[in-house]
Parts: sequence; C-alpha cells; structure tokens
Amino acid sequence: MEKTEQAHQMASLYDAHCSVQCERGRTLVTNHLRPFPGQRVLDLGCGTGRLAREIGCAVGKQGSVLGVDPNAARVALAKEQEAKCSESDHRNVAFMTGLVHDAEQHGPFDAVFSNYVLHWVPEEDIDATMVGIAKCLKPGGRLCASLTGHTGHCANDLSLLTTGQTEEAVTGMHFRSLQYWTGKLTEAGLQIDYAAEDNTTAINFPTLLEYFEFVKAYSEGAVDYQNLSPKDLNDFMAKHNLGCLTSKFVWTMSSLCVVGVKP
Ligand SMILES: C[S@@+](CC[C@H](N)C(=O)[O-])C[C@H]1O[C@@H](n2cnc3c(N)ncnc32)[C@H](O)[C@@H]1O
Repeated sequence: MEKTEQAHQMASLYDAHCSVQCERGRTLVTNHLRPFPGQRVLDLGCGTGRLAREIGCAVGKQGSVLGVDPNAARVALAKEQEAKCSESDHRNVAFMTGLVHDAEQHGPFDAVFSNYVLHWVPEEDIDATMVGIAKCLKPGGRLCASLTGHTGHCANDLSLLTTGQTEEAVTGMHFRSLQYWTGKLTEAGLQIDYAAEDNTTAINFPTLLEYFEFVKAYSEGAVDYQNLSPKDLNDFMAKHNLGCLTSKFVWTMSSLCVVGVKP
C-alpha cells in the first residue's frame, strides 16, 4: 500500500477509536480550560480535531481555535470534517500541519490546550516545544495539558510480543514524571498553577478487541495485535487474564495533568 494511503487509513482508524482519549480531554476542558466566548485557543497536537471543534463551539465566532499537528493525514481529516460545519455551528476553527513554532505567528493565544500529546515529543525537541508554548501565550494565558505517564504493562507486553521492542521504543512515546514536566515548564518561564498524577486512571472498553484496536490506532499500526498468530494472541490473553476478545476490559494507565500560567 502507498505510504500516503496508509497514513490516511491510520488517521481514520485513530478517528474511529479516539473517543476514550477525547472523553479524558473533555475533563481537561471542563476542569481547567473552561473556555468562554471570545477566547483564542491553540489546540497543540489536535489529531483529527474533535476537541478543537468542541472548544470552537464554546469560544464562538468572536473567538477562535487553531488546531496544529505534525501528522498531515490527521490534519487533512480534521479539515475535511470542519468543512462540513455550517454557519449555525457558530464557530471559527482552523487546522494546520506543523509544530508549536508554526502556530506562533498566529498567536498570541489565551490558552494552549494539549490533550495526550506532550509525551510524544522527542527529548531533543522538548525545550524548544516548551519555549514555543510560552511564546504562543498572552501574559496571563494558560497551558492546560493532559499527558500519559505510562500506558501500563499490558500494552508494553503486547508491544514486546508483536515487535520485540518496548512500547516507548516502537512508538516514539516517552513516559516522563510529573516533576520532569513541571521542571521543564518552569524553565520555559511558566508558573505552575496545577499539577497532578493519577496512577490508577481506569478507562472502560466495552470489549478487549476495542482496546487492541485503540492501541493499534494510537501507535499508528506499530503495535498491531493482528500480527500475532491466533495461538500467541490466546496465550497473551490467558497470561494477562483478559478473557476473550468480546470481554469487557478496564485499561489502567497513569495520566498526568499540568496547568502553567505565563506571568
Ligand atoms: C494521542 S494523539 C491526541 C490527539 C488529540 N489531542 C486528541 O485528544 O484526540 C497525539 C497527537 O500528538 C501529535 N504530536 C506528536 N508530536 C507532536 C509535537 N511535537 N507537537 C504537536 N503535536 C504532536 C500526534 O501527531 C498526534 O496526533
């Protein structure tokens, strides 16, 4: 399959399975972002744009949301879906492919919202990304970010079994501590307003199959349960006491939440 076609398929797969991620994002919106009409928000790592569209409805036509993401296929899907919005949606939402630096020229923003994104940033880009976030904000503007502390042993074991490598190595995710993030944001000039870790975040999947599809979607096909033989898959499920593919599954992961304010 051609590379772009595969990227588009992966973007659609992500869109089909990102509900759990978006549900977590809605908590971040309600508890911390609290958008109101007229605000300008940057959605950093917007994916296929579902949350950007929802925030767009809250800030209305007087405000705006810019979603930025380096994954061109996800941004294309976000733009496609936004094009279907009508005047009655009363929102002003745009998407662009790129990194935080590419969004800087469209700022400053009242808030940078970032839902399960920053753990994807490679170590060599972290400092520049944090400085980019600070530059995008108005004085008094806030970064509201949720991120993954770790995805739990089940996903990592699945990665080891399907690829021979850890999930971090094969996907490019980096599981870092809360102290790491608060330290990096402080260095970039933000004041920490809120920081919390929840090591027992429980996410309910109606079936184990949906969880496996979700792992495949967020890893862009890198960790794919379908690469296992039926026997290996059965052994894996038995080892982890997972029942069968139609059993309910509770995914326990660590999630972090950080809010930083630009003085
Ligand atoms: C798990 S998805 C989350 C997408 C969206 N925020 C959501 O809640 O559905 C992580 C997103 O971060 C994006 N990403 C990875 N590295 C990034 C970076 N350095 N800057 C901005 N976004 C990045 C990926 O392309 C991906 O779409």
